[in-house]
Amino acid sequence: MDFYEVLKKRKSYRGYDSSKNIPDDVLARIGNAVNLAPTACNRQPIRFLLVRDAALREKICSVYTQPWLKEAPAILVAMEDETQAWHRFEGESASVIDVAIAMEHFVLAAAAEGLGTCWICAFKRDEMDQALNIEKPWHTVAISPIGYAKADACRNTGRKPQDEIFQVIG
Ligand SMILES: Cc1cc2nc3c(=O)[nH]c(=O)nc-3n(C[C@H](O)[C@H](O)[C@H](O)COP(=O)(O)O)c2cc1C
Repeated sequence: MDFYEVLKKRKSYRGYDSSKNIPDDVLARIGNAVNLAPTACNRQPIRFLLVRDAALREKICSVYTQPWLKEAPAILVAMEDETQAWHRFEGESASVIDVAIAMEHFVLAAAAEGLGTCWICAFKRDEMDQALNIEKPWHTVAISPIGYAKADACRNTGRKPQDEIFQVIG
């Protein structure tokens, strides 16, 4: 698929066909896309868990309780380790940026494979870590369902005018 078509196809999908599993070769290609993501100083302070196990998915759904998350056959958990990360000159860790870039590789690769995803950050990170036994220095940043989306699973979301967001100067 053309790259710009993939960008248009990527939307936040909030409804999944739970009877359709994702083939392993598709997951392997998506995993490779995640692994190609750049990180600051190439520190790679990131780890992504693709949870298919039903009991673990239930634990995730007890922290992020929107009912459509339960429909997904798999849920991605994206984590950072600030201790491995490059830190900005002001002292701030770049690991959330690193995770975000790799997460977007995941989301776009999934779209290219005909799969739906949805960035999710509206949960308490410590609660998610606890539910999944994620131990320090690792810390959950975001999660996303992945699966074959239902037909009516995405909203029409508008955007600000392009020249408000992206400006060419000179
Ligand atoms: C950092 C981030 C966090 C988000 N967290 C949530 C979330 O917790 N729950 C949710 O339903 N959508 C979440 N979204 C999805 C946004 O609402 C969505 O991307 C936005 O409305 C634009 O719609 P679109 O993705 O379909 O283009 C999140 C998106 C981003 C980038």
